[in-house]
Amino acid sequence: MEVMKHLTFRGLAISFDDQVLEPRPWTEAQSEWAAELLVDAPPGPVLELCAGVGHIGLGAVLNSDRHLVMVDVNPAAEQFAQENAAANGLEARVEFRLNRIDAALASDERFSLIVADPPWVRSADTSMFPEDPLLAIDGGDDGLDLARTCVDLIARHLSADGSGLLQLGNSAQSETIAAYAAESLSGSVQVVETRLYERGVLVRITR
Ligand SMILES: C[S@@+](CC[C@H](N)C(=O)[O-])C[C@H]1O[C@@H](n2cnc3c(N)ncnc32)[C@H](O)[C@@H]1O
Repeated sequence: MEVMKHLTFRGLAISFDDQVLEPRPWTEAQSEWAAELLVDAPPGPVLELCAGVGHIGLGAVLNSDRHLVMVDVNPAAEQFAQENAAANGLEARVEFRLNRIDAALASDERFSLIVADPPWVRSADTSMFPEDPLLAIDGGDDGLDLARTCVDLIARHLSADGSGLLQLGNSAQSETIAAYAAESLSGSVQVVETRLYERGVLVRITR
Protein backbone atom coordinates (compact mmCIF):
# COMPACT_ATOMS: atom_id res chain seq x y z
CA MET A 1 0.00 0.00 0.00
CA GLU A 2 1.50 3.31 -1.12
CA VAL A 3 1.51 6.32 1.22
CA MET A 4 -0.56 9.22 -0.10
CA LYS A 5 1.30 12.55 -0.17
CA HIS A 6 0.05 16.09 -0.69
CA LEU A 7 1.43 19.47 -1.72
CA THR A 8 0.24 22.86 -2.90
CA PHE A 9 1.11 23.89 -6.47
CA ARG A 10 0.04 27.34 -7.71
CA GLY A 11 -2.66 27.26 -5.05
CA LEU A 12 -3.94 23.83 -6.14
CA ALA A 13 -4.24 20.95 -3.67
CA ILE A 14 -2.28 18.12 -5.36
CA SER A 15 -2.11 14.48 -4.22
CA PHE A 16 0.28 11.77 -5.39
CA ASP A 17 2.18 8.71 -4.22
CA ASP A 18 5.35 6.80 -5.10
CA GLN A 19 3.84 5.23 -8.23
CA VAL A 20 4.31 8.59 -9.98
CA LEU A 21 6.95 11.31 -10.20
CA GLU A 22 6.71 13.66 -7.23
CA PRO A 23 5.65 17.11 -8.52
CA ARG A 24 8.74 19.34 -8.66
CA PRO A 25 8.29 22.88 -7.30
CA TRP A 26 10.31 24.50 -10.11
CA THR A 27 7.75 23.28 -12.67
CA GLU A 28 5.43 26.02 -11.42
CA ALA A 29 7.43 28.09 -13.92
CA GLN A 30 6.06 25.97 -16.80
CA SER A 31 2.53 26.23 -15.46
CA GLU A 32 2.83 30.01 -14.97
CA TRP A 33 4.30 30.59 -18.43
CA ALA A 34 1.52 28.46 -19.95
CA ALA A 35 -1.13 30.49 -18.09
CA GLU A 36 0.43 33.72 -19.42
CA LEU A 37 0.44 32.41 -22.99
CA LEU A 38 -3.19 31.36 -22.68
CA VAL A 39 -4.32 34.94 -22.18
CA ASP A 40 -3.56 35.78 -25.84
CA ALA A 41 -3.80 32.27 -27.31
CA PRO A 42 -6.40 31.58 -30.01
CA PRO A 43 -9.68 29.97 -28.93
CA GLY A 44 -9.57 26.23 -28.27
CA PRO A 45 -8.56 23.60 -25.76
CA VAL A 46 -5.23 22.96 -24.05
CA LEU A 47 -3.29 19.69 -24.38
CA GLU A 48 -0.93 18.36 -21.71
CA LEU A 49 1.41 15.59 -22.89
CA CYS A 50 3.01 13.39 -20.19
CA ALA A 51 0.71 14.94 -17.60
CA GLY A 52 1.61 12.81 -14.58
CA VAL A 53 -0.75 13.83 -11.77
CA GLY A 54 -1.80 16.88 -13.79
CA HIS A 55 -0.57 19.80 -11.70
CA ILE A 56 1.18 21.69 -14.53
CA GLY A 57 -1.83 21.63 -16.84
CA LEU A 58 -4.37 22.26 -14.09
CA GLY A 59 -2.35 25.27 -12.94
CA ALA A 60 -2.22 26.53 -16.55
CA VAL A 61 -6.01 26.52 -17.10
CA LEU A 62 -7.03 27.39 -13.52
CA ASN A 63 -7.81 31.06 -14.17
CA SER A 64 -9.32 30.58 -17.62
CA ASP A 65 -12.38 28.81 -19.03
CA ARG A 66 -10.29 26.50 -21.25
CA HIS A 67 -10.80 22.77 -21.54
CA LEU A 68 -7.78 20.59 -20.81
CA VAL A 69 -6.94 17.21 -22.36
CA MET A 70 -4.30 15.36 -20.32
CA VAL A 71 -2.41 12.33 -21.68
CA ASP A 72 -0.27 9.87 -19.74
CA VAL A 73 0.35 6.15 -20.05
CA ASN A 74 0.56 5.45 -16.30
CA PRO A 75 -2.81 4.38 -14.76
CA ALA A 76 -1.76 5.70 -11.34
CA ALA A 77 -1.09 9.10 -12.90
CA GLU A 78 -4.53 9.04 -14.49
CA GLN A 79 -6.21 8.29 -11.18
CA PHE A 80 -4.39 11.09 -9.35
CA ALA A 81 -4.92 13.55 -12.19
CA GLN A 82 -8.67 12.89 -12.12
CA GLU A 83 -8.74 13.21 -8.33
CA ASN A 84 -6.67 16.40 -8.43
CA ALA A 85 -8.95 17.94 -11.05
CA ALA A 86 -11.99 17.11 -8.90
CA ALA A 87 -10.36 18.29 -5.66
CA ASN A 88 -9.86 21.70 -7.25
CA GLY A 89 -13.29 21.95 -8.90
CA LEU A 90 -11.91 21.56 -12.42
CA GLU A 91 -13.24 18.13 -13.38
CA ALA A 92 -15.93 19.49 -15.74
CA ARG A 93 -13.21 21.05 -17.92
CA VAL A 94 -10.75 18.15 -17.86
CA GLU A 95 -10.50 14.97 -19.93
CA PHE A 96 -7.84 12.35 -19.24
CA ARG A 97 -6.65 9.95 -21.94
CA LEU A 98 -4.78 6.91 -20.60
CA ASN A 99 -2.60 6.21 -23.60
CA ARG A 100 0.80 6.64 -25.22
CA ILE A 101 1.15 10.22 -26.43
CA ASP A 102 1.60 9.05 -30.03
CA ALA A 103 -1.70 7.11 -29.92
CA ALA A 104 -3.96 9.48 -27.95
CA LEU A 105 -5.02 12.08 -30.51
CA ALA A 106 -7.28 12.09 -33.57
CA SER A 107 -5.60 13.51 -36.66
CA ASP A 108 -7.97 16.49 -36.89
CA GLU A 109 -7.61 17.65 -33.26
CA ARG A 110 -6.09 21.11 -32.75
CA PHE A 111 -5.01 22.80 -29.51
CA SER A 112 -4.21 26.43 -28.87
CA LEU A 113 -1.63 25.53 -26.22
CA ILE A 114 0.32 22.28 -25.85
CA VAL A 115 2.23 21.72 -22.62
CA ALA A 116 4.67 18.81 -22.68
CA ASP A 117 6.77 17.31 -19.89
CA PRO A 118 8.34 14.14 -21.31
CA PRO A 119 10.99 12.02 -19.58
CA TRP A 120 14.33 13.71 -20.41
CA VAL A 121 17.01 11.82 -18.44
CA ARG A 122 19.48 9.78 -20.52
CA SER A 123 18.94 6.05 -19.93
CA ALA A 124 22.55 5.73 -18.70
CA ASP A 125 21.90 8.35 -15.99
CA THR A 126 18.58 7.11 -14.62
CA SER A 127 20.29 5.22 -11.76
CA MET A 128 21.16 8.65 -10.30
CA PHE A 129 17.44 9.07 -9.49
CA PRO A 130 16.49 5.84 -7.65
CA GLU A 131 13.39 7.43 -6.09
CA ASP A 132 11.82 8.25 -9.44
CA PRO A 133 9.77 5.76 -11.50
CA LEU A 134 11.78 4.77 -14.59
CA LEU A 135 8.78 5.35 -16.85
CA ALA A 136 8.70 8.99 -15.74
CA ILE A 137 12.35 9.83 -16.34
CA ASP A 138 13.92 7.48 -18.93
CA GLY A 139 14.22 9.46 -22.18
CA GLY A 140 16.37 6.97 -24.11
CA ASP A 141 20.00 7.22 -25.29
CA ASP A 142 20.23 11.02 -25.39
CA GLY A 143 17.19 11.62 -23.18
CA LEU A 144 15.16 13.04 -26.04
CA ASP A 145 13.17 10.10 -27.49
CA LEU A 146 9.82 11.30 -26.12
CA ALA A 147 10.74 14.99 -26.49
CA ARG A 148 11.11 14.46 -30.26
CA THR A 149 7.69 12.79 -30.31
CA CYS A 150 6.29 15.82 -28.44
CA VAL A 151 7.73 18.14 -31.13
CA ASP A 152 6.16 15.95 -33.84
CA LEU A 153 2.79 16.14 -32.05
CA ILE A 154 3.08 19.91 -31.58
CA ALA A 155 3.77 20.22 -35.33
CA ARG A 156 0.65 18.16 -36.10
CA HIS A 157 -1.82 19.44 -33.51
CA LEU A 158 -0.96 23.07 -32.69
CA SER A 159 -3.40 25.74 -33.91
CA ALA A 160 -2.08 28.60 -36.00
CA ASP A 161 -0.82 31.28 -33.57
CA GLY A 162 -0.77 28.75 -30.72
CA SER A 163 2.23 27.80 -28.56
CA GLY A 164 3.91 24.61 -27.43
CA LEU A 165 5.76 24.69 -24.11
CA LEU A 166 8.18 21.80 -23.80
CA GLN A 167 10.20 20.91 -20.71
CA LEU A 168 13.76 19.60 -21.13
CA GLY A 169 16.73 18.98 -18.85
CA ASN A 170 19.43 21.38 -20.02
CA SER A 171 20.43 23.91 -22.67
CA ALA A 172 22.28 21.31 -24.79
CA GLN A 173 19.00 19.40 -25.09
CA SER A 174 17.15 22.57 -26.05
CA GLU A 175 19.70 23.19 -28.84
CA THR A 176 19.25 19.61 -30.10
CA ILE A 177 15.47 20.01 -30.09
CA ALA A 178 15.66 23.37 -31.87
CA ALA A 179 17.77 21.74 -34.60
CA TYR A 180 15.36 18.80 -34.79
CA ALA A 181 12.39 21.12 -35.27
CA ALA A 182 14.24 23.14 -37.91
CA GLU A 183 15.66 20.22 -39.89
CA SER A 184 13.62 17.05 -39.40
CA LEU A 185 10.22 18.65 -39.77
CA SER A 186 11.09 21.05 -42.60
CA GLY A 187 10.78 24.00 -40.26
CA SER A 188 6.99 23.62 -39.77
CA VAL A 189 7.52 24.57 -36.12
CA GLN A 190 10.40 26.37 -34.46
CA VAL A 191 11.83 27.05 -31.02
CA VAL A 192 11.32 30.77 -30.47
CA GLU A 193 12.34 31.15 -26.82
CA THR A 194 14.34 29.17 -24.26
CA ARG A 195 14.26 29.82 -20.53
CA LEU A 196 16.89 28.23 -18.27
CA TYR A 197 16.20 27.25 -14.65
CA GLU A 198 18.40 25.64 -12.03
CA ARG A 199 16.68 22.26 -12.49
CA GLY A 200 15.53 22.29 -16.09
CA VAL A 201 14.76 24.19 -19.25
CA LEU A 202 11.56 25.34 -20.94
CA VAL A 203 11.28 25.99 -24.68
CA ARG A 204 8.43 27.75 -26.46
CA ILE A 205 7.57 26.38 -29.89
CA THR A 206 5.41 28.09 -32.49
CA ARG A 207 4.55 27.68 -36.18
C1 LIG B 1 8.84 13.69 -16.42
S1 LIG B 1 7.31 12.86 -16.01
C2 LIG B 1 6.25 14.28 -15.91
C3 LIG B 1 5.03 14.08 -15.12
C4 LIG B 1 4.40 15.38 -14.60
N1 LIG B 1 4.18 16.33 -15.67
C5 LIG B 1 5.24 15.98 -13.52
O1 LIG B 1 5.71 17.11 -13.63
O2 LIG B 1 5.44 15.30 -12.49
C6 LIG B 1 6.91 12.08 -17.52
C7 LIG B 1 5.55 11.42 -17.59
O3 LIG B 1 5.45 10.81 -18.89
C8 LIG B 1 4.73 9.61 -18.79
N2 LIG B 1 5.09 8.81 -19.98
C9 LIG B 1 6.24 8.15 -20.24
N3 LIG B 1 6.19 7.61 -21.47
C10 LIG B 1 4.99 7.96 -22.00
C11 LIG B 1 4.35 7.71 -23.25
N4 LIG B 1 4.96 7.01 -24.23
N5 LIG B 1 3.12 8.21 -23.45
C12 LIG B 1 2.47 8.89 -22.46
N6 LIG B 1 3.03 9.17 -21.26
C13 LIG B 1 4.28 8.71 -21.04
C14 LIG B 1 5.13 9.03 -17.46
O4 LIG B 1 4.16 8.14 -16.96
C15 LIG B 1 5.27 10.30 -16.61
O5 LIG B 1 4.08 10.58 -15.91
